[in-house]
Amino acid sequence: QMRNALNRLADTVEDPAEKKKFETEMDNFFALFRRYLQDKARGTTLEWDRIQPPQPSQVVPYKSLPKRENPELLSKLAVLKLNGGLGTSMGCVGPKSVIEVRDGMSFLDLSVRQIEYLNRIYGVDVPFVLMNSFNTDEDTQNIIKKYEGHQIDILTFNQSRYPRVAKDSLLPVPKDFNSPITDWYPPGHGDVFESLENSGILDELISRGKEYLFLSNIDNLGAVVDLSILEHMCETNAEYIMELTDKTKADVKGGTIIDYEGTVRLLEIAQVPKEHVQDFKSIKKFKYFNTNNIWLNLQAIKRVVQNHELELEIIPNGKSIPADKSGESDLSVIQLETAVGAAIRHFENAHGVNVPRRRFLPVKTCSDLMLVKSDLYSLKHGQLVMDSARIDGAPLIKLGSHFKKVSEFQKRITSIPRIIELDHLTVTGDVTLGRGVTMKGTVIIVANEGSTIEIPPGSILENVVVQGSLRL
Ligand code: UTP
Repeated sequence: QMRNALNRLADTVEDPAEKKKFETEMDNFFALFRRYLQDKARGTTLEWDRIQPPQPSQVVPYKSLPKRENPELLSKLAVLKLNGGLGTSMGCVGPKSVIEVRDGMSFLDLSVRQIEYLNRIYGVDVPFVLMNSFNTDEDTQNIIKKYEGHQIDILTFNQSRYPRVAKDSLLPVPKDFNSPITDWYPPGHGDVFESLENSGILDELISRGKEYLFLSNIDNLGAVVDLSILEHMCETNAEYIMELTDKTKADVKGGTIIDYEGTVRLLEIAQVPKEHVQDFKSIKKFKYFNTNNIWLNLQAIKRVVQNHELELEIIPNGKSIPADKSGESDLSVIQLETAVGAAIRHFENAHGVNVPRRRFLPVKTCSDLMLVKSDLYSLKHGQLVMDSARIDGAPLIKLGSHFKKVSEFQKRITSIPRIIELDHLTVTGDVTLGRGVTMKGTVIIVANEGSTIEIPPGSILENVVVQGSLRL
């Protein structure tokens, strides 16, 4: 039934070139859907008792890599940013990558700066590749126009657009190639392999003499090109390297690397049976988590895609499409997604490198945004560098729900406080900060329900709890 429905969808595509691309996409989707049904029938695929923490040879410490700078290898590298996601979780419309992060520059601008700098100082021409989705492509294209005259080669391609599936009937929601965008979804970053191939970008890079690809989340500001890892990848003939960082109690939910009967695999919390979740979260047993900074060999990608070897673990994601007429009920759908980290087991000599925390600087919330905008960091050629006086890492910042949207955050904190000596900040309720505030030690600001706290300009808050409905 699914196959017939997909064929009918393909019949609605008029342009022959577009039709061919769409059919390939629907074939890939169908393979994913079939595997999903089979997996459901088979039950979970990993046996907990066979899961072991990685062996020492499977995770190499970054510290043990010799410091290297080999521009020749750089000329064989391309950098890819995963840019299919929207900024919805931070209350923004449009691609997440266009959120302003620092000095008027967005995630996208900062990445461009980094690559321009790399190309300039090493005299190389590392292409900057963006994997967009149908949700982000138009805005991204408009924004990157400004780089046309620059010394940087920006290539873009779109990841797949898969049909959402109705939960009840298990049939595709869209009836037509041109059905509304809410009927479709981008199937997660695991889609990067097939989309690189289908778009022709993989061949394009290979024909330009590129051999390696460094990919990362666009919102990870710590994911800069590292020549020691690149050299290590080449020396160990690794087709895949995953950068892992030490797990702290704050990141127990992140995917971790495991040894499964001699091969490295990624284990995500969604795959863990309920009774073992505590075990999974243990920072003693599973010490590392995946930063999603991943180094890949381009020929190896070609091989696994062409041989249809990739069978990435499926992450079913339940959503609902709001009804378009009143009186109708919302439609429950599932979308089948995959993650790039799950591909580790399909590549030769794949292993992890345990990198310092500075290579994982994601911005998922406005609390993260406050940190990266602050005096704790300075900007060097698009790279955020933490102040060297700060020895014990970043402070813990927890801004409450009033700061969820970027627009709210900007309204409430018009100038970022000085936080170089801050350890911990919690803000709850209707709070506004004046300009030029300094925070040190542990600062807790709690505006009770229905009340407001305005911190006056120039305040110095050190180890204090500000509570109630004060106007200081
Ligand atoms: P996620 O939204 O998956 O972030 O996007 P996350 O919560 O950190 O989850 P994981 O653990 O990494 O999966 C991560 C990056 O992947 C891109 C986003 O734009 C972001 O840069 N992404 C996500 C895609 O390019 N396509 C997708 O279908 C999903």
